[in-house]
Amino acid sequence: MAEKIAIASDHGGFDLKTQLKQELERLGFEPLDLGTDGPASVDYPDFAVKMAQTLKAGDATRGVLICGSGIGISIAANRHTHIRAALCHDHLTAYLARWHNNANVLCLGGRTTGPDVAKDCLQVFLGTDFEGGRHQNRVAKLG
Ligand code: RB5
Repeated sequence: MAEKIAIASDHGGFDLKTQLKQELERLGFEPLDLGTDGPASVDYPDFAVKMAQTLKAGDATRGVLICGSGIGISIAANRHTHIRAALCHDHLTAYLARWHNNANVLCLGGRTTGPDVAKDCLQVFLGTDFEGGRHQNRVAKLG
């Protein structure tokens, strides 16, 4: 059975969410779309809450959140202690978010990151394990 990845955005990330859902399927994952469902203006914190609830319930293993810049939605997601949301802009930040920080939510900016870079971030984020070791203590201190 395919690993389920939750994905959500506000209006600023709606177009990129549509593209990344297809990319998830291409990579062999099952996207769980938590909205928003169109370009109408919505509030990004509401979608961070949906992501937090979905991961807490175990309905998906990891998630992707997108707003215009990726900033607001990553701040909102990180208010939940079981979320480690990382705003990534390129291959290296997406790789380190997993390898060093064991991030469980990838955040992207729909207005700041182009689709090809975003797809690369998605692929490396989902394909990289946590290094553990000295990083385990540090991540544990995050609460
Ligand atoms: C919405 O216009 C925009 O503020 C939002 O998508 C995001 O960039 C906030 O951080």
